[in-house]
Amino acid sequence: MQKTLSSAMILLAINVPTIQWAIGQSALDRRVDSLISLMTLEEKIGQMNQYNGFWDVTGPAPAEGNASQKYENLRKGFVGSMLNITGVEEVRKVQKIAVEETRLGIPLIIGFDMIHGMKTMSPIPLAEAASWDLDAIEKSSQIGSREAAAMGVNWTFAPMVDVSRDARWGRVMEGAGEDPYLSSQIAKARVKGYQGDDLSDPLTLAACVKHFAGYGFSEGGRDYNTVDVGTSTLYNVILPPFKAALDAGARTFMNSFNDLNGIPATGNSLLQREILKGKWGFKGFIVSDWGSIGEMVNHRVAQDGRAAAKLAIQAGSDMDMESYLYIKHLKELIESGEVEESLIDDAVRRILSLKFELGLFDDPYLYCDETREEVVVGSAEHISGVLEMAKKSIVLLKNKENLLPLAKSGLKVAIIGSLASDKDSPLGSWRGLAEPNSAVSVLEGLENFSQNNYTFAKGAELVTEPPTFLKEVKLNTTDRSGFSQALEAASAADVVIAVMGEHGFQSGEARSRSEIGFPGLQQELLEELIKVNKKVILVSISGRPLDLSWADQNIPAILQAWQLGSQSGNAIAQVLFGDYNPSGKLPMSFPRNVGQMPLYYNQKSTGRPNNPGDDIVFWSHYSDVSNEALYPFGFGLSYTQFDYSGLSVESLANQQVRVKVNLKNSGLRDGEEVAQLYLNDHFSSFTRPIKELKGFQKIHLKSGESKTIEFFLGPEDLGFYDGEGNLLVEPGEFTIMVGGNSSPTLSVNFLLK
Ligand code: NOJ
Repeated sequence: MQKTLSSAMILLAINVPTIQWAIGQSALDRRVDSLISLMTLEEKIGQMNQYNGFWDVTGPAPAEGNASQKYENLRKGFVGSMLNITGVEEVRKVQKIAVEETRLGIPLIIGFDMIHGMKTMSPIPLAEAASWDLDAIEKSSQIGSREAAAMGVNWTFAPMVDVSRDARWGRVMEGAGEDPYLSSQIAKARVKGYQGDDLSDPLTLAACVKHFAGYGFSEGGRDYNTVDVGTSTLYNVILPPFKAALDAGARTFMNSFNDLNGIPATGNSLLQREILKGKWGFKGFIVSDWGSIGEMVNHRVAQDGRAAAKLAIQAGSDMDMESYLYIKHLKELIESGEVEESLIDDAVRRILSLKFELGLFDDPYLYCDETREEVVVGSAEHISGVLEMAKKSIVLLKNKENLLPLAKSGLKVAIIGSLASDKDSPLGSWRGLAEPNSAVSVLEGLENFSQNNYTFAKGAELVTEPPTFLKEVKLNTTDRSGFSQALEAASAADVVIAVMGEHGFQSGEARSRSEIGFPGLQQELLEELIKVNKKVILVSISGRPLDLSWADQNIPAILQAWQLGSQSGNAIAQVLFGDYNPSGKLPMSFPRNVGQMPLYYNQKSTGRPNNPGDDIVFWSHYSDVSNEALYPFGFGLSYTQFDYSGLSVESLANQQVRVKVNLKNSGLRDGEEVAQLYLNDHFSSFTRPIKELKGFQKIHLKSGESKTIEFFLGPEDLGFYDGEGNLLVEPGEFTIMVGGNSSPTLSVNFLLK
């Protein structure tokens, strides 16, 4: 029979010793140990159990996951965390049960996928990555976390740091693109933005770095698919952003659905125990992905739920999200001696430590303040913050004869495409609790910022019914009845703005595509438009790189505008009119066709290197398309012109080098440039990429202004990881390249001693 402890006894056990202990980690440890000593085995296992709130969103829920059973377990103290419960009122309800009705009164951690905003939506993460602006990304992450925290949440399942090189994979919208260095810098900025300096501040959240690991390399870009990569890719490409997020202080990790080299990530000891908790010394906890413990039965490495629970705990998964298997089997697994109780104690210690750090033991209702919720959510400051972020995320891909920027008055403009008036699609996937149809549309934005004469025609509906997070988007592929009206408007206009691309729910989880052109009838419409008016500006909307090769050949101006969140239309308008000079650079290569996938700039040489001029065929290439991207990684134009000169390199002590380059804004407008530094190691004991990003700086320069930029590289930048994950720094010759994209024009060599 369970002993019932009075709350006075518990308070004594948890709180009194803190008065005597020194401030710091050991005091926290002793508070945690003291609490653990009061817990029954079932209560400890309960802390490792996480339930979804009232609705089961991203996967099948077993029958025993029904609400009444969940609440029964909540009352017994057998739930450590809940997800998808939001809003002060709702959170308070469940927290009250945990605190007032359970034997030990341990508060819950409340998790939520706050990915790019809660109510006030920032651009999707891939779009933000296109800004290469770490301060802006940190600020945007802070906006989202402030709103989520004000709504009772204290843990976000972000940042997603999966490097991916395959635009077919719908979840590229959620990450920072194809490059490990850029992804690492952005991961750090996001963790800082979410967690701030003090986790117990009621306007910060604990971060959860995901998906550990390899998820972005799912075979064929098909979500949830097998991942089979070698150690070179694992240690040099996949893992660095996770390590960077950890170094920035990320307190939790999430594992992933995929198997990695034959072992599901959720049951993978190499990843979780050896690398993350071992070599990297991670002290926080790992939550499974939704049902991923149970899915190890589908992977067929566990015969049943019991075997899956055993595999997961032994491999280091601390918390079970919605598989219900820890709560069901761990007790018996321990009693039978198949699982050591010390593994449970270790997991619980990690989970409780975070609850203390979040301030939940001092005040379980710390995140539950109605007034704060009212003031913080949707504040004017947040709205202007996401607008700034949205402007910085737009990438100008083509601007023949300076068609852009447009005049603000005196023009007859035809706006074509159903995405132009769409107020829902810009909210993107993983849209938190955004009100449906709450974004500023392109049409509204254009009208807000100018006095031109506008005619709008959809041409064709993109979809046949309103898209949702749960189901496949239904595309219109037959109804062309609006074409003639659109073509009439286009032929009568001075200029046409064609807004085309994917709906926000066409990328994201489970949204893999085998074709990455414009869906539905849009390509056909675009081809008709250019026949009646040569001045077409294409505003391309997407959650991934699309195949823009036809547009690149035929359309004079192209803007990559992603899904930009609540202020989407205002941001696009400000760029079209030149109120904001575009400064975004692509975080993923844009392909010439889908057959180039996986496509990335930091390819290896191969034994038969790229040799485009050669008419003898025996080198690594396609017969029907170039090896190069249509628009390379790091590429993006401006309304002004930036010139690089005077690249120099100087070797310093301790395998450090200093690189200098002059940057001049030689055009007529003020603007921002992302100066990028790439490295090539001539010879090494492992094959290395032909170039790798190792530094970047976003610089604002007035028209005519120049600046000398300095980069410092150290052993970590000059080295690479071997097959066991050890850093090797090998002496020899290197080339440094600097410029405004991943095909820089300036280069200089140096010798590393
Ligand atoms: C599944 C997704 O893979 C993960 O990223 C997300 O955090 C969880 N569902 C919870 O919604």
